[in-house]
Amino acid sequence: MKRKDLLGLRDVPSEEITEFLDTAAHFREVGRRRIKKVPTLRGRTVVSLFFENSTRTKVSFDLAAKRLSADGVSISASTSSAKKGETLMDTARNIAAMAPDLVIMRHSCGGAAHLLARNFRFSVVNAGDGINEHPTQGLLDMLTMRDHLGTFEGKTVAIVGDVYHSRVARSNIYGLTTMGARVLLAGPGTMCRPEMERRGVEVRHRIDDVLEEADVLMMLRIQRERLPKAMVPSSREYAHLYGLDSAKLARASEDVLVMHPGPINRGVEMTPEVADGANSVILEQVTNGVAVRMAVLHLLLDGGDDDAAS
Ligand code: NCD
Repeated sequence: MKRKDLLGLRDVPSEEITEFLDTAAHFREVGRRRIKKVPTLRGRTVVSLFFENSTRTKVSFDLAAKRLSADGVSISASTSSAKKGETLMDTARNIAAMAPDLVIMRHSCGGAAHLLARNFRFSVVNAGDGINEHPTQGLLDMLTMRDHLGTFEGKTVAIVGDVYHSRVARSNIYGLTTMGARVLLAGPGTMCRPEMERRGVEVRHRIDDVLEEADVLMMLRIQRERLPKAMVPSSREYAHLYGLDSAKLARASEDVLVMHPGPINRGVEMTPEVADGANSVILEQVTNGVAVRMAVLHLLLDGGDDDAAS
């Protein structure tokens, strides 16, 4: 792979998505060993900058770097000098002066990762930029689907909830349509810009309109932090229109996959019985997150050199 950065899945061709997923499937085995470490990125420096809250994404990038033997450091907004008024470009210039090989960044502004990628020599991985994209989440979701469905061709993935403000939805839409899956959206308003229509995404409005056709139900958290207060529906209303409970699940196919990127608001996006039930693959998504991030770091920094990966 010749890629310097991973900023989104929008323009990643199917061969590269397959290479990310296959490499991640290979790295999964490292996570099952007693000594969870390979020398792949020994001596390489990985810095993560998290300007927005994170649990799963931050821990899994940190673990991925450690399991590949990279030297990793991470800082979050609350402890960085961004709090003292430093601009993103100044922060990046200072990080660059310490010669990292790769920077992982989460930021509330769409395009923030692109800004770094354009201006610096180090590789950049977007760990979520505003409402734009979250490519490693898209890849880990796709790996989880591929494990269960075998293929994307002819499969129907329904993405349900606050689709408009979700970078997880956007990365999945790009990745899944590239791989030949059919994508249905059920959410408030529409995000069907011409770009989405060209990709064949169908917009419905309620969860009831997608239940019966779905091979996958991907449930999303309402992104309160990205909405003006007046636009936030009540949790009860959201649960009614877009939430998944056992009665609704019973209308879907028996082996439908229930997914959620986390963090879940139990009782809003789904009831606890559904979150912890037999159809849920939510914790598999988390496990796959470490392997996917190992694959991304390895492929960006080593281009997939096999000798480095064992
Ligand atoms: C998501 C995010 O931050 O975009 N979480 C994640 O990375 N697992 C989804 C969310 O916060 O709702």
